[in-house]
Amino acid sequence: MGGGLPSGSLTLIEGGSGSGKSVLSQQLIWGALSDGYRVHLFTSESTVRSLIRQMETIDLDILDYVLLGKCRIFPVALSKSGISALPTLLDACNNLDSDLIVIDSITGALTHAADSSVTMQFFQACQRITGRGTTLIVTLHDEGMPNEVMNSIRSMCDANLKLRTEKDGQRIIKLLEVAKIRGASSGTGSIVGFDVEPGWGMRVIPISKARG
Ligand SMILES: Nc1ncnc2c1ncn2[C@@H]1O[C@H](COP(=O)(O)OP(=O)(O)O)[C@@H](O)[C@H]1O
Ligand SMILES: [Mg+2]
Repeated sequence: MGGGLPSGSLTLIEGGSGSGKSVLSQQLIWGALSDGYRVHLFTSESTVRSLIRQMETIDLDILDYVLLGKCRIFPVALSKSGISALPTLLDACNNLDSDLIVIDSITGALTHAADSSVTMQFFQACQRITGRGTTLIVTLHDEGMPNEVMNSIRSMCDANLKLRTEKDGQRIIKLLEVAKIRGASSGTGSIVGFDVEPGWGMRVIPISKARG
């Protein structure tokens, strides 16, 4: 990933359902916790207990960090909160003293956004949060989002990781494209093939093999 995600950056992880957005963000959360950072996760998909269990099954055991208060998990029903979802979420983020905030995923909240200007305002507010030194990672299922809105969001982010699945003969492979990392030490645009294996987590597959 070109030397990694810079601290104080805003990262967009985008991809369809099952493409690996949650697993990739969990891997990044694990990395940050291992490096001693304080992490806050807003999850629209899990309870605290189910998330800890699920991460444990891919060899990312965060229980100690949760018990120590280094990792805090907030389940949020973003798709049920209507138009209050984005302001409430931002309010919560603004009041955190955090090194890394992860929102997995923002999709449900954006589908309730009145128009694209509300979505843009949300990402502008995210930029202000990162301006104070907090690293922010937002995952998004881009289905149904207008192309021009997606392009505006991407341009507002410091890093953009795109996930997709591709059919390769009999099997489905997952691909991670590093579309952008601002200030990356090496060139971006690289594509990595990977799989998610129980008991292991993300396993990188050499791209030539991934592509057959
Ligand atoms: N704990 C796990 N053990 C094995 N496979 C998993 C686990 N968690 C997720 N996966 C698999 O990894 C893939 C990506 O899942 P996920 O990251 O949840 O996708 P997304 O968040 O993009 O919808 C899926 O194929 C899913 O079945
Ligand atoms: Mg997910």
